[in-house]
Amino acid sequence: MTLDTLIAEPWADYGLVDSGHGRKLERYGRFRFIRPEPQAMWAPASGDWKADGEFIPASDDDGGGRWHLDRNVPEEGWPLGWEDVKFQAQCTPFRHLAFFPDMASHWSWMRDRISEGSEALNLFGYTGVGSLALAAKGAKVTHVDASKKSVEAGKANAALSGMSDKPIRWLVDDAAKFAAREVRRERRYDGIMLDPPKYGRGPNREIWHLEEGLPGLIADCAKLLDDKSRFLVLTVYAVRMSALAIGELVRQQLGDLGGTVSCGEMAVREEARGLALPTAIFARWER
Ligand SMILES: C[S@@+](CC[C@H](N)C(=O)[O-])C[C@H]1O[C@@H](n2cnc3c(N)ncnc32)[C@H](O)[C@@H]1O
Repeated sequence: MTLDTLIAEPWADYGLVDSGHGRKLERYGRFRFIRPEPQAMWAPASGDWKADGEFIPASDDDGGGRWHLDRNVPEEGWPLGWEDVKFQAQCTPFRHLAFFPDMASHWSWMRDRISEGSEALNLFGYTGVGSLALAAKGAKVTHVDASKKSVEAGKANAALSGMSDKPIRWLVDDAAKFAAREVRRERRYDGIMLDPPKYGRGPNREIWHLEEGLPGLIADCAKLLDDKSRFLVLTVYAVRMSALAIGELVRQQLGDLGGTVSCGEMAVREEARGLALPTAIFARWER
C-alpha cells in the first residue's frame, strides 16, 4: 500500500496564512488567529503576524491553555461558509474553532460519490459540517455524536444553512454501540465517514479508546456496507498511529466488498508558500 497526501486548499472563509516556529496563523472569515502547531518546525514566511487572538498553551502543554482574544471577537461565534454549507465558527477551550478545515478534502471527495437519496452515516459527527456537506447534495444522513451540545450545534448549523428540512437524523449516541445496533437491524449505508478521537465518552459514560475500539468498529462498518455501497472515510488525529496501519485495517475488514483502499496524510495548504502542514491521517475505501 502506498501513501497519499490529501491537501485541503484555502477557500474564501478559511486559509492557513503562514506557519513556523511552532505556531500557525489562520484566517476564519474576518478574523485571524494564532495557534500552537508543533509540526511547523520550519521558519515562518513573515516575521510580522497580525491576529485578533492567540491560543497560549499551558506551560506543561498537556492540551490545556487559553485564548487571548481581542474584544471584537464574538464569544458566541460568527458564521462561515464552505461551498453551500454555513456553520458557526467559535474559539473553543480545546484550541480549535468548532470545525476542522482539513476535512474539506473528504467533504468534496464524498460529494462526488453520492447522489440524491444516498444513505450516509457520520459517526463522531461533531458540529455536523460533514453531514451538511452530504445532505446539501441530496443524501439522507444519520449523524451520531455522544455530545448533546455538538448535536445541537449541528442542528443550528443546519438552520444557518437553510437545511433544517433536509433528511438528517441527529442522534446523541455512543458511536460503537450505535453501529453494533445498526448491524443487528441489518441496516445498509451507501457511505460511512468516521472521525474518532483518541479518547471519548458515550452519553452513558461508555468508554471509547481508539486503539482498542477501532478494529471492532471498522468490522461493524464493513457489515453496514454492501455491494451497492460507495465509500468509507476514516480519519485519525492526535495519536501515534501510522496511516499504513489504518489503511491495512480498512483493507482487511472491507476486503470482501471489492473496491480499492487508499491511505495517507491529511494536510492544509499554507497560503504564504504553498507548503503542506500535516494535520491527521486517513484511510478510505471506494468503489
Ligand atoms: C473531533 S470531533 C469530530 C470532528 C468532525 N468529524 C468534523 O469534521 O467536524 C470528535 C467527536 O467525537 C465525539 N465522541 C467522543 N466519544 C464518542 C463516543 N463514544 N460516541 C460518539 N461520539 C463520541 C465528540 O463528542 C466529538 O464531537
